[in-house]
Amino acid sequence: MSEVIVLAYSGGLDTSVCVPLLRERYGFDKVITVLTDVGQPKEDIERGNERAKNLSDEHYVIDAREEFVEGYIFPAIKANGSYEGYVLGTAIARPLIARKTVEIAEKLGADALGHGCTGRGNDQLRFEAIFRATNMRVVAPMRDLDLSREWEIDYARDHGIDVPVTRERPWSIDENLWSRSIEGGLLEDPFSEPPEEIYAWTKSPERGIPPAKVEIEFREGVPVALDGEKMGGVELIERLNKIAGEHGVGRTDMIEDRVLGLKARENYEHPAATVLLNAHSDLERLVLSRAELRFKAMVDEAWSELAYMGLVNDPLYADLCAFVDESQKRVNGVVKMKLSSGRAFSVGRKSPDAIYDQEMVSFDSQTLSQRDAEGFAKYHGFQARFLQKR
Ligand code: ARG
Repeated sequence: MSEVIVLAYSGGLDTSVCVPLLRERYGFDKVITVLTDVGQPKEDIERGNERAKNLSDEHYVIDAREEFVEGYIFPAIKANGSYEGYVLGTAIARPLIARKTVEIAEKLGADALGHGCTGRGNDQLRFEAIFRATNMRVVAPMRDLDLSREWEIDYARDHGIDVPVTRERPWSIDENLWSRSIEGGLLEDPFSEPPEEIYAWTKSPERGIPPAKVEIEFREGVPVALDGEKMGGVELIERLNKIAGEHGVGRTDMIEDRVLGLKARENYEHPAATVLLNAHSDLERLVLSRAELRFKAMVDEAWSELAYMGLVNDPLYADLCAFVDESQKRVNGVVKMKLSSGRAFSVGRKSPDAIYDQEMVSFDSQTLSQRDAEGFAKYHGFQARFLQKR
């Protein structure tokens, strides 16, 4: 009986090396590759398809960009998704990629599922949280065989895989609509400064170009228009990545606590994510009550942690999303964002659902009698004053 494995394939070094390894070392008769498009650069997808055609027995490409935006990025915006300051780009894409891989494997009646993650990172956990919900075997050659990158590069060359990774440019890059993650090489020394060449989406924030402004319209917590022009999420994020990238917005250089407990130095760029997350949380401050804001900050943190761990099948994930969705019904309005020297900040916001009355807070207003506050002030801090006086 012939053994069939479906591999979540990116077209990069690790997953390309996996294909011959799955035949030679694991004895699979048929290796099927699935490349899920979550907004990687077109060239990467094309190169991946070319490589897969030479390497695997059958290859599938799935355009999941819209699903990624609607089902994964939008929930992240609504929950102000951030783990220790990381916008979760890689993290939220993994469950989707895993699910697409499983769909094909189930349709083909495959025996096993494969991924190219190492045993050091989070991605293995995110893939397997989805893969292991099936009855198929899970194979992870990179983790299993403990291969060094040097060995992989040589093995790839021997198998006719042209890899752009060299010993001089050793970056491991993961890219999708929401963020670009860069790891490896000298970045592994947390004291060494990232060279400018690791960045592809952002220009240097120190270029000194004049600031720009963009207006983002939100409907129920998700962006629906850019500078007054209605557009779908994929296009909006792509455009904003370009615009904000020009101003060097959205570079992150951080020490991150991985799920396994390892601390890692991580570098990211995510211009659109920074603009949208900053704009969204600013708008929330206008429309949510103080009590909602305090409580939602805790929900957002719990949501982000689950998303980071890839535990989107935990029932808590759906519970939290239900709360978040309910809270977003009034998150409608427009936020004016200024992009300047690597920063994106709000300089104006308006909403039909604002808990804000200019007439009431204004210095010039007569609507409220200021004297009414006197009684409130008499009780404010009552206990502390009682103790001080005694
Ligand atoms: N540390 C991040 C995460 O766990 C990014 C991992 C990126 N992977 C990569 N091959 N560059 O989500």
